[in-house]
Amino acid sequence: MPMTRRRGTHALLLVATMFGGCSDPKPAAIEAKAKPTPGTATPAANKAVDTTDEGDGGPEVAAAAWAWTLPKGIHTPPRVPEDNAMSADKVELGHRLFMDKRLSIDGTRSCYSCHQNELGNADGRTKALGPGNKDLPRNTPTIWNVGLSATLYWDGRSDSLEAQALAALKGGNMALGDAVESKAAEIGALPEYAAAFAKAFGTPAKVTGLHVAQALSAYERTLLCGDTVHDNDTQDEAAKRGWVLFSGPAGCITCHAQDNFSDGLYHRMGIGAGDPAAAGIDLGRGKITGKPEDNFLFRTPTLRNVARTAPYFHDGSAATLEDAVRIMASGGITTAGPVDSNLIDRKLTPEQLADLVAFLRSLDCPGKLEVKGEQKVDGIGGA
Ligand code: HEC
Ligand code: HEC
Repeated sequence: MPMTRRRGTHALLLVATMFGGCSDPKPAAIEAKAKPTPGTATPAANKAVDTTDEGDGGPEVAAAAWAWTLPKGIHTPPRVPEDNAMSADKVELGHRLFMDKRLSIDGTRSCYSCHQNELGNADGRTKALGPGNKDLPRNTPTIWNVGLSATLYWDGRSDSLEAQALAALKGGNMALGDAVESKAAEIGALPEYAAAFAKAFGTPAKVTGLHVAQALSAYERTLLCGDTVHDNDTQDEAAKRGWVLFSGPAGCITCHAQDNFSDGLYHRMGIGAGDPAAAGIDLGRGKITGKPEDNFLFRTPTLRNVARTAPYFHDGSAATLEDAVRIMASGGITTAGPVDSNLIDRKLTPEQLADLVAFLRSLDCPGKLEVKGEQKVDGIGGA
């Protein structure tokens, strides 16, 4: 299996980043003793490693580096921007912020409101419901493994988690708009947060929207999903047959590739496609690049945990996993013009389609986000 080439070895702790100001640190790879618990973002699971040389009169402040605990099936740690090094304090702060409804304009939504455990870290709705019960234009994706994606959103309009988090805070998700800076300062000044921001960012004079976005992003980078039934090779016969189809004759792996089952590229599947001039139509990638040839292209989503994130597609138009798989395996939606050339009718039997679904179920994530505080929201299920 190409996706599990380190099968059988222990997860590696990889030292991926270091704090600025540290001269010539030594990256190290250490065999993890304990079995990793995917998705549990506790600081204890991610120990800081001292990378300073002993006895060389090196920097006074021990240069801490972040050690990744990669679950089975995930071979590369998330990319970390130079100006937002990982630390246990920052991850802990980001975790609290992710669960805090006070970050939305009217105190009705935390990030978790739409990205929930019980609903595969999505919200179970066709399209998301923002503060003020405002209907948002797209289906909520899972946030497992978002740290592995080079671009974020169905149309890839954010190229970092930090940019995405700021957009989520300002835009329809949390609806802060220009109030993002005053809200960040207000949250940062709360007694229960002031010390946490100081620990994570070294006493910022004033907590900014960027600090909040950076802490949220650090937390999100720890949300790794691997160690699934598929990664552990403990799947049943139907799932095994499904994997053979998926990675062979059904052609799914062309786009749903690599550890996270996504090539990170944009494809036209015909879902929601139509007259580009029609009111309210979602142009996808085309809206971002302004190029007509990019109209109705959407980024390949991960398939990890997919059995739990119904409904499907950027517009939530497929109610069940069976529906989504059938559309993918039978050449997409062609009513509004041609689709990606790799998307063809594979002429699969109902049994083969069921096997593909069985395979996708073997990608259920074993981890959970640790919920903090009361998370019930009217109009959004789960919690
Ligand atoms: C009201 C529901 C809602 C809330 C609240 C919400 N999100 Fe989202 N989130 C969405 C939707 C819908 C999308 C997809 C939007 C798009 O592609 O245009 C999304 C996309 C994302 C993505 C990109 C995932 C990917 O694979 O591209 C990340 C990361 C994310 N949200 C994190 C957050 C963070 C952090 C917060 C809190 C600041 C937050 N979300 C609050 C609904 C929500
Ligand atoms: C040409 C690239 C390509 C191929 C081939 C492909 N997919 Fe997809 N897949 C995508 C894209 C892009 C989307 C998102 C489409 C949208 O929302 O408009 C998607 C969405 C999905 C979804 C819904 C995920 C979600 O979170 O909403 C499932 C399930 C899925 N694909 C399974 C499959 C299966 C099974 C196969 C093989 C039969 C397959 N795909 C073949 C690119 C591809």
